[in-house]
Amino acid sequence: MEFSQKLISWYKNNKRDLPWRNTINPYKIWLSEIILQQTRVNQGLSYYYKFIEHYPSVKDLANASEQEVLKLWQGLGYYSRARNLHATARIITENYDGIFPVDYKKILSLKGVGEYTAAAITSFAYNQPYPVVDGNVFRVLARIYGVDTPIDTPEGKKTFNGLANKLIDKKQAATYNQAIMEFGALVCTPKNPECENCIFNNICAALINQQIELLPLKSKKIKQTNRYFNYLIIETNNSETFIAERKNSDIWKGLYDFPLIETPKKIYSFNELSTYSNFQQIISKTAKIVLKKVSDETKHILTHQKIYATFWHISTDKTKSLEAKYKKINNSSINNYPLPKLIENYVKSF
Ligand code: ADE
Repeated sequence: MEFSQKLISWYKNNKRDLPWRNTINPYKIWLSEIILQQTRVNQGLSYYYKFIEHYPSVKDLANASEQEVLKLWQGLGYYSRARNLHATARIITENYDGIFPVDYKKILSLKGVGEYTAAAITSFAYNQPYPVVDGNVFRVLARIYGVDTPIDTPEGKKTFNGLANKLIDKKQAATYNQAIMEFGALVCTPKNPECENCIFNNICAALINQQIELLPLKSKKIKQTNRYFNYLIIETNNSETFIAERKNSDIWKGLYDFPLIETPKKIYSFNELSTYSNFQQIISKTAKIVLKKVSDETKHILTHQKIYATFWHISTDKTKSLEAKYKKINNSSINNYPLPKLIENYVKSF
């Protein structure tokens, strides 16, 4: 039997019942694919239900504020996905009268939609024969066909796209695409794949050549930088504190955090922290400060960064200058704002 037929028949018997597979509504498919871009199915499910409930249509999403969308996205990470989702909903509402485009090129031109997502939407919603090539597909094809071209190079991209285009069942593009991703998620997994029970174990080049652990190849290692975040939790007599929206192009744009002093290394004492000029930009040199509590250092791992965070609880007699730069809020209202997971976790702990 042909590769695609074998795969589709495996899929029909083994697929998970996932809500975005029971619809051809392009809005719901787009939403699910954006959620699933850097997120596992189990974690993404509750967010998918939440978004569909709050925003049943693309117009409902467009009518929401960005802050509301970020709040709903809180905890899922990679927040530019949420900002792009919202911006794109507004474009579809304004430029396409709320009707999702059908044309691959038009879909590809939408903010936050790359080749993978455009192929997923056009195939799942309209059964157009665009093959999806995501991490699962790279892995399945690299192993079964023994492709050792690094997947993160132009040559690798060409090779895998070419193979994917040859293999797709053009009449059943939606089912074929779901099937190959599901196979990568359930059988041909990154670690400990189920080779004993695999329907391709008689032809799989990587299994035959003992290259399962090796494939797919990547040319680059992800570089990680260490960052040291010192947050000031400024306590007032009225159970208030200061927060601000992150505005620059750094991580967590649009989310809220406490006054932040980033330092090039770990800080061991409050005295040391107060010598940094970015500390003095927040708290005036002449202010009286009482240090009330220091948290343990917490480590927060992102794809390209490791963040070591310490929370310094202080009170001060000079808060006027803070009010220009920061938002003074009641402690109890902090959870009304979209927060990075790091902040959400810390706030939960006190
Ligand atoms: N990951 C990305 N898209 C997916 C989908 N449609 N079903 C299951 N997992 C996925």
